[in-house]
Amino acid sequence: MSAPIILGIESTCDETAAAIVQGDTLRSNVVASSMAEHARYGGVIPEIASRAHQQAFVPVVSKALADARLELADVDAIAVSAGPGLAGCLAVGVSGAKALAWAAGKPIYGVNHVIGHVAVTQLQFGAIPPNTMALIVSGGHTSLLHVKDIARDVTVVGTTLDDAAGECFDKVARLLGFPYPGGPYIDRHAQRGNPEAVKVPQGLTQGRAGKEHPYDFSFSGVKTAVARWVEQRQATGQEIPVDDVCASLAHSVAQVLARKAIGGCVANGSDTLIVGGGFSANSQLRAQLLLEGQAAGVEVRLPRVALCTDNGAMVAMLGSNLVDAGVSPSSLDFSIDSSM
Ligand code: KG4
Ligand code: ZN
Repeated sequence: MSAPIILGIESTCDETAAAIVQGDTLRSNVVASSMAEHARYGGVIPEIASRAHQQAFVPVVSKALADARLELADVDAIAVSAGPGLAGCLAVGVSGAKALAWAAGKPIYGVNHVIGHVAVTQLQFGAIPPNTMALIVSGGHTSLLHVKDIARDVTVVGTTLDDAAGECFDKVARLLGFPYPGGPYIDRHAQRGNPEAVKVPQGLTQGRAGKEHPYDFSFSGVKTAVARWVEQRQATGQEIPVDDVCASLAHSVAQVLARKAIGGCVANGSDTLIVGGGFSANSQLRAQLLLEGQAAGVEVRLPRVALCTDNGAMVAMLGSNLVDAGVSPSSLDFSIDSSM
């Protein structure tokens, strides 16, 4: 018997996306982004994103089906991100997915977007070993997860107490005059700078109450420290060494993320670290993870960038895992959960 055909739908932030996964094959993957509409505001505007989802939903899902040469009737189950994300954005994707499921009589799964970032790596690296750790970092999330079983047992080991790492980069980038999203500009300039030039604190290296939460992160102080340093130089008419500022920021953030992620693997006896989310495109983080992973005997799974950013494949792949594991579908009245 051939593997079930899963339609995955994603609308947590500024990407309207749909994909078809069958077993470990990605049959189609369509992403429409409203990023260009947000750029001039320096951040995602929820109202604009929700309207864009509402416009893009039907064309994106239709194209995902057409690219896979399928009709809705051929699909075995629908999976949709139910959280975390912007409430108005989630509501569009979930309502659309429910309408499709109801009309076509298909089972539907409301899934966790962050766990989808972990699941999608199976398309590149194959099955996720039991007892795996995952570091998911983007403009919206920074989470360290313990993945005992992708379908049934994923726990949060650490998370950011304030800004996400990508958000911190975007805020500093704005200060330096780069367009939104500025993370990739920081990455490029950091490659030419001196990482020791500016003293940047490492976000919450000890955990919030001494050793109680050793895997939590905090990046708002990092952003403030860089901002203060830049402003002081501006006030005294000194030039800003942009490359050095970027290198110092990138070095500090990469170090704390890698140390806690690899430290979490060692503490949990895990020899695999999965990495995902848009920020995992960052070259300083990639290099630091590979370095520390090698030293600790941990295999670091760094997917290609197209799989790291938000897409429908991550949702479809997680849906496929749930179907395979025999997990019951959601009822049609399930709710979105923006802080899931
Ligand atoms: O996952 P994603 O596409 O969207 C969400 O935030 O959900 O991640 C985008 C974030 C932005 O903050 C962007 O600046 C950051 O990831 N980013 C990077 C790089 N590429 C994307 N940050 C640092 N270095 C990069 N190369
Ligand atoms: Zn994401």
